[in-house]
Parts: sequence; C-alpha cells; structure tokens
Amino acid sequence: MRANIRGFDIFKGHLDAAAQAALVGDVRRVAEAAPMFSPDTPYGKKMSVRMTSAGSVGWYADRSGYSYAPRHPGGGPWPPIPGAVLALWRELTGLARDPDCCLINYYGEGARMGMHQDKDEASFDWPVLSVSLGDAGLFRIGNATRGGKTESIWLESGDVVVMGGAARLTYHGVDRIRFGSSTLLPKGGRINLTCRVVF
Ligand code: SIN
Ligand code: MN
Repeated sequence: MRANIRGFDIFKGHLDAAAQAALVGDVRRVAEAAPMFSPDTPYGKKMSVRMTSAGSVGWYADRSGYSYAPRHPGGGPWPPIPGAVLALWRELTGLARDPDCCLINYYGEGARMGMHQDKDEASFDWPVLSVSLGDAGLFRIGNATRGGKTESIWLESGDVVVMGGAARLTYHGVDRIRFGSSTLLPKGGRINLTCRVVF
C-alpha cells in the first residue's frame, strides 16, 4: 500500500519477511566490520539510538556538530552499502545516482529521535530513503520549519519511506518504539536505514 503524508511517500509492507530477514543479515555484517556506537550530540548528551554506517562516508555527531566522516570512529573504513539496499534505492527513487551513505540506526527499548531536518548533505535535490525493520516506531512528520501541527504514523517492519521533493527538508522524528512488537530481531528493537546522497 502506498500513502503520501505531507509529501513523504510511504510504502507500507514493501519488503516481505524474507527480504527483511536478508536485510538484517546485511546489517549484522556491516555492524561486525563497523561496530555500532552512540554519538555525543553538540548539546553534550548522548543520543539514545546506536548507529553505524555503510558507504563512502558515515554520518557522525560529536560535541562540535554533525558531519559525514570518511572513517568509522575506530579508524577503519565504512563497509560498502549492501547490494539489496542499493537495489531498493534504485527501485523506489528511480535514480541512476546511488547514495553515498546508508546510516543504520538501532533503537533499543526507550530510544527515540527528536524532531530534526536531514540537512548535513551538500544538496537537498536528492531524496532520502528510509527502511524500517523490527519493532514498530511512531514516526512524526512536521513542517518545513520547527513547530506547528504534526501527523504521526506507525512505521512497521518492511515499510519504506521516500522523503524528497518539496518534503526533503520537512522536520521528522521518532517519538517511541513499541518494544517487542516484532519477532524479526531476536533481542527486540528497531533498525532504521536511511540512504542519502551526500556530495
Ligand atoms: C532518521 O530520521 O534519521 C530516522 C528516521 C527513523 O528512524 O524512522
Ligand atoms: Mn532524519
């Protein structure tokens, strides 16, 4: 099922169980090579999500701000973006240009992500593709500026969202997850992949 909320294209149930399980395997391999970490924010608080990346650069945050880093904080390179993720990007965006970064966020029990814009990229002409795996997450969609009325939708395992066009800089966040609502991840939690063209 395809829905559009405030310019975000939402493909509910796009990935079947086998595709979801295969992506979890891909994520596990990325996290073995580039372990998950909880970044510090410029506000001096650790993020509640754990994250790593695949691609030529990885999204990174520390006390000095948000950026894309050419290497994992451990010093090694980021693994390549898995083929199935690139295939999904090409299928749903129709673009010949592949993403530079696939950020992998893991939401454990109690993790959330405050309202923000994705604006650390050089150009906002490219969409952001977001894939949800595991426990359901309450995704809030706001406006082009902070504040105002918002709309929320539960993103479930296998749902894919394309945030592009006029909605590329729309504020969004994850209020909470429904821990234990999916059996995809043996220890529970939610994985979200976001692919972005960075340069
Ligand atoms: C993000 O905005 O980076 C993550 C969105 C999500 O977890 O669904
Ligand atoms: Mn975001």
